[in-house]
Amino acid sequence: MPNPSLLILPGDGIGPEVMTEVRRVVSWFGDKRGLNFDVSEDLVGGAAYDAHGTPLTDATMDKAQAVDAVLLGAVGGTKYDNLDFSVKPERGLLRLRKEMDLFANLRPAQCFDALADFSSLKRDVVAGLDIMIVRELTSGIYFGEPRGIIEEGNERVGINTQRYSESEIERVARSAFELAMKRDKKLCSMEKANVMESGVLWREVVTRVGADYPEVELSHMYADAGAMQLTRWPKQFDVIVTDNLFGDMLSDLAAMLTGSLGMLPSASLGLPMANGRPKALYEPVHGSAPDIAGQGKANPIACILSFAMALRYSFDQGEEAARLERAVEAVLAQGLRTPDLLGEENRAPVTTSEMGDAILAALDASL
Ligand code: NAD
Ligand code: IPM
Ligand code: MN
Repeated sequence: MPNPSLLILPGDGIGPEVMTEVRRVVSWFGDKRGLNFDVSEDLVGGAAYDAHGTPLTDATMDKAQAVDAVLLGAVGGTKYDNLDFSVKPERGLLRLRKEMDLFANLRPAQCFDALADFSSLKRDVVAGLDIMIVRELTSGIYFGEPRGIIEEGNERVGINTQRYSESEIERVARSAFELAMKRDKKLCSMEKANVMESGVLWREVVTRVGADYPEVELSHMYADAGAMQLTRWPKQFDVIVTDNLFGDMLSDLAAMLTGSLGMLPSASLGLPMANGRPKALYEPVHGSAPDIAGQGKANPIACILSFAMALRYSFDQGEEAARLERAVEAVLAQGLRTPDLLGEENRAPVTTSEMGDAILAALDASL
């Protein structure tokens, strides 16, 4: 059997910084656990634009389609803000998601006990939190037509279209129900059926799919109320399923329940390939963080935990994924903090690579 293949796309800003630590973790699993990967690397986002004039070349797209899993750092940066929309760094990521058909974006938000005092919410509200947001990732207002900026009368009009077909709703709903079956069997679907037809259809289809999962307790919430409930008492949720745009916003909000955006991993999964593995891309929820890029301040944990998700969802290595998650937990329990985890506290932070060192040491200690 050949080794499973991984394509690493570090991207821009802090992407390459956090990916350096992930590469060390990937090597550790090869050296110490015999889990060897064929790792290749390529450009995406602004880095690809600088080299090739496009945020994702066709050759890189083909590689992404061919590997067992893609690991991505982050894309974007102020330098690219005024580029034409068609070549913005973010388009590279959106093309990967769309062409790989990665419709189910799993964004878990777990509050490690050592960080329960670092959330902007009270300890009681977040301690022990473990929720999973399933964000639809290949449709909705991100991709709907018509779109663009058009002339109308004597002014311009910006247009984006929210659009969901029944099959698009059904497949992401099914992924969310399947996850709920493996967790606490509770699913909350969020839309705005009170004002959007796409929300009405969303609710109807999710309810219909729910008939196949009688053990799962299904509820529905308007997404605005959902945002409020997520900050009021997030532990009422187990799995949340929602559309592309609401999922983008609600997952950043959920990040603050865990202490920092630098903590949140994600898995973007598509249909099974010929070998039975789902098409998959793993990336942190955060972006390229231009405000701290190049300073050794980035928290690598979100990206490292994204690799843990790859071990679990692409490579059937749930126990090794748990080993990595426990190593992260141990390091946090030792009090190591990158600056994002210190808030206003006046304590010496560690650098990105020192956090990586500590996680590798904790992995060694797990043997
Ligand atoms: P961001 O997530 O990059 O940063 C938001 C804030 O969180 C910043 O203060 C940043 O310093 C902090 N932060 C984020 N990740 C961190 C980490 N690992 N460690 C410590 N602090 C961290 O969002 P933004 O500033 O709105 O966007 C910046 C750029 O990133 C934009 O070009 C945007 O389009 C892009 N972006 C890309 C992705 C992605 O590649 N998946 C996701 C979100 C934003
Ligand atoms: C995310 C990001 C992306 C999104 C951007 C960079 C395209 O914010 O992954 O959460 O909006 O989906
Ligand atoms: Mn986002």
